[in-house]
Amino acid sequence: MHHHSLRPVTTLALVALFVPLAALAQDEATTTAVAEAATGIVPLLMRWLHVFGAIFLLGGAFYLRTVLMPAAAENLEGESAQKLRQGVMARWRKILPILMLVLIVSGFYNYLAVTRFAHEGQGQYHMLFGIKFLLAFAVFMLASMLSGKKAIAQKLQQNAGLWLGITIAMGVAIVMIAGYMKLM
Ligand code: HEM
Repeated sequence: MHHHSLRPVTTLALVALFVPLAALAQDEATTTAVAEAATGIVPLLMRWLHVFGAIFLLGGAFYLRTVLMPAAAENLEGESAQKLRQGVMARWRKILPILMLVLIVSGFYNYLAVTRFAHEGQGQYHMLFGIKFLLAFAVFMLASMLSGKKAIAQKLQQNAGLWLGITIAMGVAIVMIAGYMKLM
């Protein structure tokens, strides 16, 4: 077989070999950067902490809004309804700051120690992070006020169903943004 006739075959073989590798390398450029920045147990622990913080905070708000509040309204009234509300808020008020601290610490770690390196020069990624960050603090503020004791908090609690609904909607938006950021 002449040497010339092999060229197209060789070229094809090289293309077949390198194109996927190039694509992998391209993806790997990002995933490797994340993987390199995320080696070791700490990034994994921080990612778990962040996901559990999100699950318990949004799950708690969702349960309050869709199960506990309607059930209490249907089955309790007057003093006993008030007693249950105060009891629930007193407990939630203790748990919320822990969940917020977990989300803030793990979130900053995720960004400052892991993901920002993988997304250098990706303005859209950092913009989405900024939007997610602001939404997160709006959720923290509303969740704290809905379980708070101050006059302004009690004013908000008169329309707890609406404000809890808004808090949950913002939480859903945060998770959707995070899911998109993960794929960038
Ligand atoms: C209500 C508050 C928050 C919720 C519900 C939330 C939810 C989430 C979820 C579900 C993820 C995806 C986790 C994964 O698949 O690994 C995520 C990722 C992330 N979150 Fe949050 N988060 C919140 C607050 C924050 C805060 C306050 C920060 C920063 C201080 C932050 C920074 C990040 C970063 C950097 C990522 C990684 C994104 C990526 O993979 O590129 N989050 N968040």
